[in-house]
Amino acid sequence: MDDLKMIEKALYAYVPSELPFAKALTDSMSYSLEAGGKRIRPRLVLEFSRLCGGDDKAALPFACAIEMIHTFSLIHDDLPCMDDDDMRRGKPSNHKVFGEDIALLAGDALNCLAFEVMSRDDTVAASGADVCIKNINILSSYCGTDGMVGGQIIDLENENKTADLESVTDCDRKKTGALIKAACEMGCVCAGADEEKIAAARLFGENIGIAFQIVDDILDVTSSDEELGKPVGSDIENNKSTYVSLLGIEECKRRVDRLTNEALDALKLFDGETELLKELALSLSTRKN
Ligand code: IPE
Ligand code: IPE
Ligand code: MG
Ligand code: MG
Ligand code: MG
Repeated sequence: MDDLKMIEKALYAYVPSELPFAKALTDSMSYSLEAGGKRIRPRLVLEFSRLCGGDDKAALPFACAIEMIHTFSLIHDDLPCMDDDDMRRGKPSNHKVFGEDIALLAGDALNCLAFEVMSRDDTVAASGADVCIKNINILSSYCGTDGMVGGQIIDLENENKTADLESVTDCDRKKTGALIKAACEMGCVCAGADEEKIAAARLFGENIGIAFQIVDDILDVTSSDEELGKPVGSDIENNKSTYVSLLGIEECKRRVDRLTNEALDALKLFDGETELLKELALSLSTRKN
C-alpha cells in the first residue's frame, strides 16, 4: 500500500461511527478529513520515523493525529469570524455545508480526537508510553498559544494594518511552521531518536515551515481557485500583511530557495537515506497547490 493510502485508511477509521446522536458532527469531521489535502505533515512523521529506524505501525497514529490537528485548524481558519473563505481542498468549506455551529464543533472534536488517538491503549502498546507522552507534549505545545493558535492570533491582530517583517515572520513560524516542525520532531521521537537528531529535524522543519507559508502567500496571488482548491486573493481581501505584500514575489522566491537549502543542510546530520525528504522539501518549494 502506498503511503497516502495507508495514512488515509488509518485516518478515516479513527472517526467514531455509530453515534446516531452525533451524526452531523461525525459527518462534518469526515467531510473535511476526506476532502483530500497533500498530507504533508503525516508524511513527514513517517519519513522522519523511517530515517531514524522506526516502524510505520508505531508512527501511524501520530501521523494521523497531526493531520487531525491540521484539519481542525483549516476548518476554523475558514470560518466567517476568521478568514471567511468558502472553498477548501477543492470543495465548499466545512461551514458552508454543515453551518458554522457544526463546523466549530467538528474542529473541536478533531482537536480532542488527536490527543485521544495518541493516548489510546493500542497506541501505547505499539509505541510505548514514553513515546506517547513525549509526542503529546510536542503536539500540544506546537498547537497552542506559542504555536499554531498563537500564530493565528498574530495573524488576526495584524489585519487592516501594515505589520513589519518581524511580526509576519513570528506569525508564520507559529501558525504554519509549528505544526510542520512538530511533524518532523514527532517522527524522530516515534523511532526513539536521540536529542541531536531531534534538533536536526527541528531545524529542517523550521526552515521548510516558513518556506511553506511564503509559498502559500505567493500562490494566494499567482494561482487560481481551481488549481489551488481554495479562494485566491483571500489575503488581499482580508487586508493581511504577508511576505508577498512586504517583499514582493521575486524576493519571496529567493527566500524560499534559501530556506529550502538550509533545510537540506540540516539533513546532513542523519546517516540514513534522506533522498525522499530532500525531494519532498524541493517539491514543496515549487508546488502549485
Ligand atoms: C494550508 O496547508 C494551510 C497552511 C498552513 C498554509 P496545506 O497546504 O498543507 O493544506 P492541505 O492539507 O494540503 O489542504
Ligand atoms: C493558515 O494560514 C494557517 C492555519 C490554518 C493555521 P492561511 O490562512 O494562509 O491558510 P489558507 O491559505 O487559508 O490555507
Ligand atoms: Mg488564515
Ligand atoms: Mg486562510
Ligand atoms: Mg493562505
